[in-house]
Amino acid sequence: MASNPLEKFNIDKLNIFSNPLKMFFPKKMVGIDIGTAGIKVVELSRWGQGKTLENYAEIKSSSLYKEPFRGVEKGSYLLSNYFVSRAVRAVLDEAKIKTRAVIFSIPDFSTFCTSFELPPMNANELKDAVYYNASQYIPLPVSETTLDWQLIGGTPGDKQSGLKIFLVAIPNQVIQDYQKVAQLAGIDLYAVEAEALGLVRSLVRGNRNYVCLIDIGVQSTTINIIGKGSLKKSYSFNFAGSQLTYSIASALDLGHEQAEELKNKEGLTSSKEEISKTLYLLIDPLIIEVKKVLSDFYQQEGKEIDAIYLTGGTSNLPGLKEYFAEVLKIKVEIPNCFSELLYPPILGNTLEKIAPSFSVAMGVALGGLET
Ligand SMILES: Nc1ncnc2c1ncn2[C@@H]1O[C@H](COP(=O)(O)OP(=O)(O)OP(=O)(O)O)[C@@H](O)[C@H]1O
Ligand SMILES: [Mg+2]
Repeated sequence: MASNPLEKFNIDKLNIFSNPLKMFFPKKMVGIDIGTAGIKVVELSRWGQGKTLENYAEIKSSSLYKEPFRGVEKGSYLLSNYFVSRAVRAVLDEAKIKTRAVIFSIPDFSTFCTSFELPPMNANELKDAVYYNASQYIPLPVSETTLDWQLIGGTPGDKQSGLKIFLVAIPNQVIQDYQKVAQLAGIDLYAVEAEALGLVRSLVRGNRNYVCLIDIGVQSTTINIIGKGSLKKSYSFNFAGSQLTYSIASALDLGHEQAEELKNKEGLTSSKEEISKTLYLLIDPLIIEVKKVLSDFYQQEGKEIDAIYLTGGTSNLPGLKEYFAEVLKIKVEIPNCFSELLYPPILGNTLEKIAPSFSVAMGVALGGLET
């Protein structure tokens, strides 16, 4: 049986945050999201119950290499540990971050998320039952993955209530890749966490409603349903922010940079019909996917969604939030992952603008400081 690569961190699952040894929790933590467009880094410190934003930084892949930082197909791993680790080191040096304890987020296309039901049982039987049943729900042998799970429905010990489990499986090979990156970059890998779980922590925690959280980055989009603060469903789609740029470039016969600028500045609100038309053609299929996810959730759980949260860099597309609200007839927000932190007020406007790209890095860093 393959050994669990997280063993050396003394944790047997990725949900490090149930660690009872609170006194050993570090005071500072760095969250790193190796995205397609760039590497996002957030350094936080903890004081009592509060958290301070010590530092944040992003290094864009285009500024270093022609290639993206990571592969994009489902199941593909980091493009090159060596290049990625150099970029991680560079961004930490540039931001003068000395904290060595780091948590990496793992992208949605390298993880498998699912939920399933178990019959009534006691709490002490639950862990074994999850591991035993996981093999039916993930496409890889359980021995080759590291599992993280949460109880999202039912009460252990209650003979009447079945239990509902949310399961995340990460191939051990992926974890080993991130360990290698950490080692080459000269940092200490405190933990890894699936990006969907980081997003929930930074944007939806404490929210008692049902929220659909959509992360639109460069290469992929995830649609997550969160009920009363915990992740219920997570799907990934091929909808890509970069496709919007390519389509504008080809519709108007422009270079990539010009098209990117038009997209980011004008987006759906552009007075040039060719631009908005091109964008609507790509966004409408995404909205159809969202509708389908919402209606499936309603069929299965009988619950309506109270709000849609958009995040990821593409959520800043001018007019996108309004278009979602108009078509789906639901309240739509772009939450700010920095809003509950302490930081110099002068940074307020800048942070609000960049916040959607930092939600994942923020969420995993926060997890490392939990008490
Ligand atoms: N104002 C804007 N309007 C539209 N798109 C924008 C805007 N600002 C940034 N973007 C897009 O956001 C994307 C970057 O988002 P993000 O940082 O979330 O990506 P990523 O995490 O690296 O990607 P992925 O999660 O797919 O690997 C780029 O495609 C960029 O063009
Ligand atoms: Mg991303």
